Formats: sequence, structure tokens, C-alpha cells
Amino acid sequence: MEKLKIVGGNRLYGEVKISTAKNAILPIMAASLLINGETKILDFPHFSDCYTMLEILEKFGAKTSIVNESVKIESTNIKSFVIETSLAEKMRSSFFTFGAILARCGKAIFSYPGGCNIGSRPVDMHIKAFKDLGIDIVEKHGYIYAERKNFSGGVVYLDFPSVGVTENVMMLACTLNGLTVIKNPAKEPEIVDLQNFLNCAGAKIEGAGTDVITIQGVGKLLNGISYTCIGDRIIAGTYAIATSCVGGIVKLNNINPTHLQDLIDKLRKADICVIESKDSISIIAERRPTSIPIVQTMPYPYFPTDLQSQFTVMQSISKGNSIIVENIFESRLGYVSQLTKMGAKIKVKNNIAFVEGVETLLGAEVYAPDLRAGAGLVIAGLCAKGYTTINNVHFIDRGYESIEKELSSLGANIIREKNN
Ligand code: EPZ
Repeated sequence: MEKLKIVGGNRLYGEVKISTAKNAILPIMAASLLINGETKILDFPHFSDCYTMLEILEKFGAKTSIVNESVKIESTNIKSFVIETSLAEKMRSSFFTFGAILARCGKAIFSYPGGCNIGSRPVDMHIKAFKDLGIDIVEKHGYIYAERKNFSGGVVYLDFPSVGVTENVMMLACTLNGLTVIKNPAKEPEIVDLQNFLNCAGAKIEGAGTDVITIQGVGKLLNGISYTCIGDRIIAGTYAIATSCVGGIVKLNNINPTHLQDLIDKLRKADICVIESKDSISIIAERRPTSIPIVQTMPYPYFPTDLQSQFTVMQSISKGNSIIVENIFESRLGYVSQLTKMGAKIKVKNNIAFVEGVETLLGAEVYAPDLRAGAGLVIAGLCAKGYTTINNVHFIDRGYESIEKELSSLGANIIREKNN
């Protein structure tokens, strides 16, 4: 196990290239199962979740290799349609292969997925959507048994705009016959990226990013395609918030600012200068941020739940009091107890954090409870007076290539150590 050691107080200066988006490349890697041949994805990010996805694809019979920062996935011989518990437990997005496997093999036997402990993370909406499209599904002994008979498309209305459900239905329907319509789909940029990837391979999908997605089944997809995914808006948002907290001037490259409009609006309201170009965001932070009275996490295009912990850290050292409401996951405020160890003044009641801004935090030994809360604690360490040690770095490595290398390249005093 490893930990991060931070000495707080350094301002950040310089530029960083934002990695490929974890939540774009994971479903696109899953979609490569639909292609009877080779897929090449450039700028492969070294997140541990991406390596877990490679393990899952190989379990199904795909051959994968990483050459010159690109990943090649050869899916000619997909012979298995089963994911056992040991693998499914590792990562929520193991379940994002469900639609593709069902389309490719006609059946799927999946154990329930794992993932960050930010809530119960059921898959009931996935199952309802598949049943609405005529898929036979039985749940027993901790597994989901699914079989498609004569699929002919249909209409699926999502009670909640779930990212994973939207992506699973797109992958199920795009190679099968018939017209499938998704009403109230998720509108995240990663959904648009998946549509672009599939259409690049010959699919006929329209409407990603809007209130209705239509998928016209095309039989088989082209192989031998090469694709580059969008930049990771959550990593970019993390570093934008970090700079806003400690001060400095930082330019984030390989990011589309329209993917972070709600955060950018809030940073500007907090007295932070943000400059946008078509593929970069620059942060100029010269003074202590001003609190934003209330922030609510909502589906895209509103404030993303994956930046909630990072923004709460900023609010905890801002001028004034604020409220943060987590509307997406039922237990995504668990990290607050670690923040209060550092002197933050935060009270939590159900899914609401009541924050009283303090001048400074004090370094302490803390434990990352999950991926994004871990990133939030890193920001807290960068702001705090003195030393901060962050344990459970493996959670952070799920979605950041090397957070300590990128932050130290901007002037932060942060190193990774092995636990003795
Ligand atoms: C995706 O998860 C992301 N993961 C999450 O990012 C992100 O937080 C989430 O979307 C919301 O934006 C990937 O893309 C790999 P949902 P997903 O289905 O698809 C409930 C990160 O840190 N729900 O939109 O699982 C669910 O419990 C991760 O990168 C059901 O109740 O999210 C949650 O409360 C964390 N039943 C809400 O809906 C279901 O069948 C939103 O979930 C499915 C979801």
C-alpha cells in the first residue's frame, strides 16, 4: 500500500495536459466488444480502472496490448459471456460491458458490480431498461442471467438519467435490428463521446447530449478503427479547484471548457479568474475564494457529483458559509470526517454539508475513502499548514494517472511513499 505526503502552502504555476477521460474510455473499451476485429484507442490513460477493464475484456476472449500510449483491442474471438464476482466486484463499470456482451453473444451472466463506496449502487434501472426492450432477465444466487430472443428495438424511458444505463442500452441496440429510442437519457459529454466512437465504426446513433437518443440497428460494425477520446473533465476540474484554493496561475490543456461550464461559473462567482479557449482552461487565483451560498450536485450539464468533495474542500477555506447538497449518491459525504480532522468546520445532516469557511486547515494523517474524496483530501493537504499524509492512495490511482507527479510539476510539495 502507498501513501502521499504533502507539505502545504505552495502556490501552483505552469501547464498540465489533462489525461483521456476515464468515464469516456471505459464504456468505449466495453463497446470494442461489438467490433469483430481490431479497435485502437490513442492516448491510453494509466488509470487502474482501465487495466481492470482490459482484464475483463480478456476474460471474454479479447486480445489486448498497449503500444506507444495506445491500446489495441482485438475482439474477433469473444467466447465467454460470464463475469464472476471476483472481477465484477473490482469496478462498477464492469457492468458497462453487459449491453455489448448481450448484443454480441445473445446472453450474459454477470455478478453484481462493485465500485467506490459512495452508495448502494444498484443496477435495477439497467435491468428495467433491458426488460423494457424484451430481454429475458432472471436474478438469482448473486448473478444476473440475461438472454435476448428476437430483439426488435423499442422505447426506453429512464426515470433517472443514468449514465451507465444510457451507455448500456446504446451498446445493446446499435448492432441489433430495429429502432431503439432512449427518453430522458444522461447527457454527459462521455455519452456523446460513446456515440461518436460507435458512429465512427458505422453505427447510426443520434441525439446524444439531448433529451432523446435514437439508435438504428446496423447489423455489424466496421473494424480497424482508431479513436481518441475527450479529456477528463473531472481531473481538469480537480486541478482548477486546487489552483483556486492555494493560488497561482495554471493552464489546463486537452480539455473542452464547455464540459465544465457549471464549475467555471461557480469559480468566477468565487472571485477566481477563469480564461477559456477551445481546448484549454486557465485559472488565475490571487485571493482567498469567496463562498458560494449553495451548491447542488445534479445530472449534466449541472454541477457534477464527481467534483463535490473537491469543491467542498474549497468552500471549507473560503470566505463565508455555504451549503453543499449531494443529490446523486446517497453516501458521498463520508470524507467530511477526515476534513474536520484538518480543522474544517463542516456539519453533515443526511445528504447536506453545512460549511463555515476557515482561514486555514492544519495538516494531519487522513484516509481516502474513495476515488474523488481522495482527490479532495489531496487539495486539502495542498492548502493546509504543515504535513498531511493521505493513506489508501490506490483509490486515487483508479482515476488519476499520477496525481503527485502532475501536481509537483506545478510546484506542489507532494511525494508518494510506500507504507512500511
Ligand atoms: C457514472 O456512474 C460514473 N462512472 C460515475 O463516476 C458518476 O459519478 C456517475 O455516472 C454520475 O455522473 C462511470 O462513468 C464509469 P448513474 P453510474 O447510473 O453510471 C443510481 C467516478 O468517480 N442508480 O448515473 O454508475 C445510482 O446509485 C465515478 O468517476 C440506481 O439506483 O452512475 C446513483 O445514485 C463515481 N440504479 C444514480 O442512480 C441503477 O440501476 C446515478 O447513477 C443505476 C443507477
